[in-house]
Amino acid sequence: MIIKSSEFVVSNSDVAKCPNSKLPEYAFIGRSNVGKSSLINMLTARKSLAKTSGRPGKTQLINHFLINKDWHLVDLPGYGYARVSKSIKKTFQKFITQYFEQREQMLCAFVLIDSRHNPQPIDLEFMQWLGEHGIPFCIIFTKADKLKPNALTRNVETYKEKMLEIWEEMPVHFITSSTSDLGREEVLKYIEDLNTQFISN
Ligand code: GTP
Ligand code: MG
Repeated sequence: MIIKSSEFVVSNSDVAKCPNSKLPEYAFIGRSNVGKSSLINMLTARKSLAKTSGRPGKTQLINHFLINKDWHLVDLPGYGYARVSKSIKKTFQKFITQYFEQREQMLCAFVLIDSRHNPQPIDLEFMQWLGEHGIPFCIIFTKADKLKPNALTRNVETYKEKMLEIWEEMPVHFITSSTSDLGREEVLKYIEDLNTQFISN
């Protein structure tokens, strides 16, 4: 898919105020600092469309971006950031869960996993929650550039094994790097196919 245009639409903490449109949308979710905002910039080939930071906790709202005037990418706050207060954590959690429960046009959640780490309970639990709520999701392994090819393959294999303890199948997954554009075409193609299915339904 060719990205012809990408524009910021709105930020908010209230799902009811998200764009009132039926356009298909795709949300990026995962631990703080995993690379959600960077991936949105990589996919759209825009350096700073979504705000990124070396410090976790940068994205604090639901951010909608309109792509090619006919679908949305959604940047969400990360979960599992230890340094925010308990009440902020609760607020984040509440609007993230409300977002997933209420946005029917959200066709696929991309759950981002740092390819360097072992499977973490918080991510596994979050995917379990998505599954229990019937919310479709894929996995995106991020920061692949930070690992040697062998270590990357090993970590993805370990992740698959862990997932298969819980799930019947490994969900669709992608390996990406926001610095080298690895995985860009694959993720965009996946979105394009879902957009096409959505239109024909
Ligand atoms: P929050 O908004 O805090 O939840 O974080 P986020 O998941 O949006 O992460 P963000 O995109 O802000 O990136 C966090 C840090 O990781 C930044 O310093 C990025 O430059 C770095 N980063 C993200 N993706 C990659 C990648 O693919 N490769 C490398 N080397 N660094 C990355
Ligand atoms: Mg972010």
